[in-house]
Amino acid sequence: MGKILVTGGAGFIGSSLVDELIKDKNNAIVIVDDLSMGNRGNIPNSERITFYEKSVCDYKFMEELLILENFQFIYHLAAVASVADSIERPAYTHKVNSESTLNILETIRKNKLNITKMLFTSSAAVYGDDPTLPKKEVSPIKPKTPYAIDKFSSEQFVLRYGELYNIQTVAVRFFNVYGPKQNPKSPYSGVLLILKDSIDNNKNFKVFGDGEQYRDFVYINDVVGAMVHLATSSNSVHEVYNVGTGKKTSLNSVIKNFKEILNSNITIEYAEPRAGDIKNSYADINKLVDSGYSPLFSIESGLRRYLK
Ligand code: NAD
Ligand code: UD1
Repeated sequence: MGKILVTGGAGFIGSSLVDELIKDKNNAIVIVDDLSMGNRGNIPNSERITFYEKSVCDYKFMEELLILENFQFIYHLAAVASVADSIERPAYTHKVNSESTLNILETIRKNKLNITKMLFTSSAAVYGDDPTLPKKEVSPIKPKTPYAIDKFSSEQFVLRYGELYNIQTVAVRFFNVYGPKQNPKSPYSGVLLILKDSIDNNKNFKVFGDGEQYRDFVYINDVVGAMVHLATSSNSVHEVYNVGTGKKTSLNSVIKNFKEILNSNITIEYAEPRAGDIKNSYADINKLVDSGYSPLFSIESGLRRYLK
């Protein structure tokens, strides 16, 4: 590949991406992360990795870096990744999740930087709670939070800007990603990490609602695989792709999987549905599959790997 920038590369998904990219001896990777949520320890040790503890909102730094390094690939993952946090801090979220993206694009355009591909990570949150299922990329967009609004605006900026100024770009909408390196200290941890944590620490697990709500839980290896595929495929340009498994899994059935794999009992408490939750979500991934990437992990095999 060559010279690669990964913003948010100390976080859960970003550092897993770096783990994969570093396997190719031809790659040199630069990470920009302010460690607001990420962790230095997530980054593998390698002389081909340069780490900057910097904010993507430090425009002077970002411009100088982009011009100096002349990256072939840019993976832009740095974000306020929590919906709840975005509701607490909408203006700050907008700076990180939207303005930083436009700044990267402007720097590329104004300096005529010759990047091979820029990939932006958006979210299934852009679909909101519209009842159409499964979610296709052309399904109604109903962002309900600052997080979702900024993800949608950034993703569209990246794609339409790419068309207008002939910059090779692509975007992905992740569904519910799980795997090692998710921050257990984050108050916004996904349900599978909370479930694992309650088993590890012998705590009751609280199900919000009847547990029949379903999601598309996608294992981190497939998320990384899809990103690398879309960044390097010359056919996938100026398009957005759902990244999930294309399968729905209810919370009750995930709990059953956990019990079987770990051969342990879990004490469940049922509580009222969580305010603001969407009931159900899962992805139509035909567009991703047609582009040449098919997920390798089912919920069973992903959970087995995760819990091992
Ligand atoms: P994460 O919080 O682990 O990673 C985000 C990283 O960005 C963190 O390391 C954080 O320190 C860094 N960061 C935050 N603000 C920054 C700033 N101003 N400058 C530099 N770095 C900054 O979250 P993640 O789950 O790895 O998410 C990665 C990307 O994927 C995010 O853009 C997120 O919105 C998106 N996404 C994640 C999921 C999921 O299920 N985990 C779903 C949809 C979309
Ligand atoms: C996830 C994202 C959210 C994004 C949305 C749409 C996380 C943490 N949240 O929300 O930012 O907007 O996808 O793409 O990744 N649950 C319990 N008990 C718990 C925790 C959760 O029963 O202790 C339930 C929730 O009520 C929900 C389901 O589990 O019904 C999944 O919750 P969660 O993992 O937070 O993900 P989403 O709600 O899908």
